Amino acid sequence: LRRKVVLMPGDGIGGAVLKETVKVLRAVKFECDYVHADIGWEFWRTEGNPLPDRTLKSLRENKLSLFGAITSKPKWEAAEELVPRLKNKGLVYYSPIVGARQSLQLSECIRPCLSFEGNPLNFVRQKSGGGFEEPPINTVIFRQNTEGLYAGVEWTNPPRNVRQAFESHPKFGIFKDVKGEELAISTRIFTQERCNSICREAFEYAKKHGYKRVTIAEKPNVIRETSGMLEKTAYRIGKEYPDIWVDSNNIDAICMWLTKNPESYGVIIAGNMFGDIISDAFAGLVGGLGFACSANIGSEVAIFEPTHGSAPKYASYKTSIVNPIACILSGAMMLDHVGETHKADLIRKGIAKVIKEGKYRTYDLLKVKGQQNVIYNGAVSTEDMGSAIVEAIGDV
Ligand code: NAI
Ligand code: MG
Repeated sequence: LRRKVVLMPGDGIGGAVLKETVKVLRAVKFECDYVHADIGWEFWRTEGNPLPDRTLKSLRENKLSLFGAITSKPKWEAAEELVPRLKNKGLVYYSPIVGARQSLQLSECIRPCLSFEGNPLNFVRQKSGGGFEEPPINTVIFRQNTEGLYAGVEWTNPPRNVRQAFESHPKFGIFKDVKGEELAISTRIFTQERCNSICREAFEYAKKHGYKRVTIAEKPNVIRETSGMLEKTAYRIGKEYPDIWVDSNNIDAICMWLTKNPESYGVIIAGNMFGDIISDAFAGLVGGLGFACSANIGSEVAIFEPTHGSAPKYASYKTSIVNPIACILSGAMMLDHVGETHKADLIRKGIAKVIKEGKYRTYDLLKVKGQQNVIYNGAVSTEDMGSAIVEAIGDV
């Protein structure tokens, strides 16, 4: 049976970066059929659901998907124009990719951050004649993707039974006189099952790819129950991997250390929110949104996506100019996931070659610090970047 990959372009620049990714996957002769699925703002507008059931069904059936981006904070004007019709039906807009992660229980998010030689956006210093002056970054973040502070279990003016449950906690004392609307509670729920699975995946990944260090990025000295559960789990599972050094760094301390020696980190394990934050910080150190790829992994389904959004500013360009590399790297992660590591490496080598040569650069790679709204001479289009990578793959 031929493998099927569900393509979900979504909104804005999603389609343009996905198109180049498919082009590159074809160039390495990845065998599959592509099927399209609807997701995003347009389907909210037309049918009141940004993640239609037919899309979830296709994802469940086909198990593998590449996703572009969606618009999750629609502009107020646009929202207001639609509110009467949709609101009457009791419909509320939600982010369909967050929805997909929850519905399909894509409980692990993997985000590799790699310095490519010659990338002018690299944080680590490079030699002018090529090569690095400081060690390059090669970090992979394992972020819990469905629980924690982003699970959405929260209230403003909590119902009485909820409030009573909190009041029974000895530390609730300082809030006991705060009334109704003046009280908001967002919970941070961790489960042992998900702590086990994120840690297991992270250590297996570290072992397979030769990482020597696994770090837990939480705050267990303050958030004792949840951060504590993840930390304990990591230490327990880490015992089964004697060649890997396991340590725990507070999330705030990591933010400081990574401005000094980001290369010292190998695999990082974090809960949902800290994982989100730390992976953006690392992404910034290796070139920003144009390079930040990710995988959302569940026990059945896996969705691969660039971490950037729909970039409305660039969505209406007749010729797309955004960087497709984040999406193409996500495509390579999909190949890793299905065991086609050789083809995935070919893609990464092709990208490395294009970046090192520096002949083809999308606008983000030409940006000068502090400059805004400038036309960058010599910037290539999304499509030309895709073609340059295809050509480079032919040479490696
Ligand atoms: P964004 O990621 O769309 O854009 C932020 C900045 O980075 C912009 O200046 C954009 O032009 C630039 N940028 C993004 N991708 C790029 C690429 N591939 N190459 C070069 N430059 C790139 O984030 P923003 O503007 O905060 O949000 C826009 C919309 O996207 C919002 O509705 C937001 O909610 C949504 N969003 C969706 C995500 C997803 O689909 N997973 C993730 C993040 C935001
Ligand atoms: Mg983020």
